[in-house]
Amino acid sequence: MRLRELPEWQKLAQCAARMSRDETHLKYLTADAQRLNEFSLKGGGLFYDFSRQRVDKKTMEHLFDLGRALRIDGQFRAMTQGERINVTENRAALHTASRDFTNRPIIMDGRDVTLEIKALGKKIKCFADDVHEKRIVGSTGKPFRHIVVIGIGGSHFGTEFVAKALEMFGTPGMSIHFLSSLDSYHFEKIVSSIDPEAALWVVISKSFKTVETLANARLAKEFMKQKVPDCDAHFVSITAAKDTENDFGPPDQSFHMFDFIGGRYSVTSAAGGVPLSLFLGHDIFQRFLKGAHDMDLHAQNAPLDKNIPLIAALISVWNTVFLKYGALGIIPYAAPLSGLCPHIRQLHMESVGKSADIDGAMMDEPAGTVVFGEPGTNAQHSFFQLAHQGKPFPMEFIGIIKPWHQTYSGSCHGVSNHQELWANLIAQPIALAQGRPNHDPARSFSGNRPSSTIIIDELSPETIGGLLSFYEAKTVYEAFLWRVNPFDQFGVESGKKTASGIRDEIRRRNEKKEGGHLEIHRPETGAIEKFYMDMLFQGE
Ligand code: F6P
Repeated sequence: MRLRELPEWQKLAQCAARMSRDETHLKYLTADAQRLNEFSLKGGGLFYDFSRQRVDKKTMEHLFDLGRALRIDGQFRAMTQGERINVTENRAALHTASRDFTNRPIIMDGRDVTLEIKALGKKIKCFADDVHEKRIVGSTGKPFRHIVVIGIGGSHFGTEFVAKALEMFGTPGMSIHFLSSLDSYHFEKIVSSIDPEAALWVVISKSFKTVETLANARLAKEFMKQKVPDCDAHFVSITAAKDTENDFGPPDQSFHMFDFIGGRYSVTSAAGGVPLSLFLGHDIFQRFLKGAHDMDLHAQNAPLDKNIPLIAALISVWNTVFLKYGALGIIPYAAPLSGLCPHIRQLHMESVGKSADIDGAMMDEPAGTVVFGEPGTNAQHSFFQLAHQGKPFPMEFIGIIKPWHQTYSGSCHGVSNHQELWANLIAQPIALAQGRPNHDPARSFSGNRPSSTIIIDELSPETIGGLLSFYEAKTVYEAFLWRVNPFDQFGVESGKKTASGIRDEIRRRNEKKEGGHLEIHRPETGAIEKFYMDMLFQGE
């Protein structure tokens, strides 16, 4: 099936021509007093305002028709029921099952996987409780006070996002650190701020083959061997690999990752469950799961035209394909949400950034968009010049009604800091949409720059779970609209393969102690590789 040939696709192309005329400028669309009512929704614990997107009712109807024609709601349901919708890897994609509170069985290959998920949940709870109640302590008898999570990509970003967003619920006296970079500077920085006798290293790798993670885990082990008598007691591992060189931590400190939950969708599985239960406590983690589950139910059951993540996905495809925007900015006006964008950046770009469709055919144009962002108002002082006057791109603003701060609220110009934050959150979408003409081009703002605004009551485990699930569902729906598989990531493999060839060359030079003298036999890039490797050996 070619998307371009669908009648719904062609109608949307016509809509795009209409929505690009002067009379459909956002300053005219938003002048309608009913606009906010008609282009906003509440559900799954959040309020979603898409009144400043460049859509009208007709566009939305055609977008819904596209969703219907592609049966994206049915695909979402199939995903939650355990169908092997990850076709290139012949796997199910059951991240929603890892926070399912409905008690309905999900049968895969004749077994109810929810029983395994529950058993694992119990093991995580017992372990976290034992650590908090000091029944499990370090090998010198000190209670654990520092969690160091070793993992990268999907085994890192989501958990760090949640840990930062819910830091205020952290177990008193417990700190959490994330080690992902291969640059040993990162390792040194972390070990200089922890007491090794009170450190618990949590090694997360679904494959247990990821070079960065293995290198850091080995470095951590060597370090701990010199610091404590029984270093094993200080390690926990979380992996789907059964027969690998996983010798990190005793068996009762090893937790299973299911192959039917993708890495970047694994925050609510053991990958997030173990470190977050250790850092926040298991009850808080359960509340976070419940929030995610509530949004899952909305994403699964709300009708197409009331379904928030589905509408957000339709708008994203509309913006990228039909209005030709090349990026999406995610701007939360809350400092604790600083980890959100890095997580969604991977979630979207690794899930949707594909050139082959679900039938294995090359697509007419590659899917996905560039996602970037930064909390406001820092973002305003960083890239909003371009946002207002340079190449336009859509944005998702996120606001929190109740501030988290408990003691200091600040005040300037007669408003609290939180009110000032909100003044900016309210102002930016208006300014981007309306524009401000001026006879001087340097001071003129064209406007018509689209954005959505997501409002959340407060930062709580439930709302953060809901926000995570919203973005997961939006991503999956978007992939269904593009007709790509959101659960594979062959693109990342290409760079890894090239690095492994270069690593072999470096190892050979190391073994032969030949430094820069070894010849590289690669006609296409050999000279360039040799140039850089010579530099590397000069630096050793
Ligand atoms: O970045 C590529 C990737 O394969 C991600 O999809 C994955 O989350 C990450 O590497 C880490 O993989 P693992 O959990 O197997 O170490």
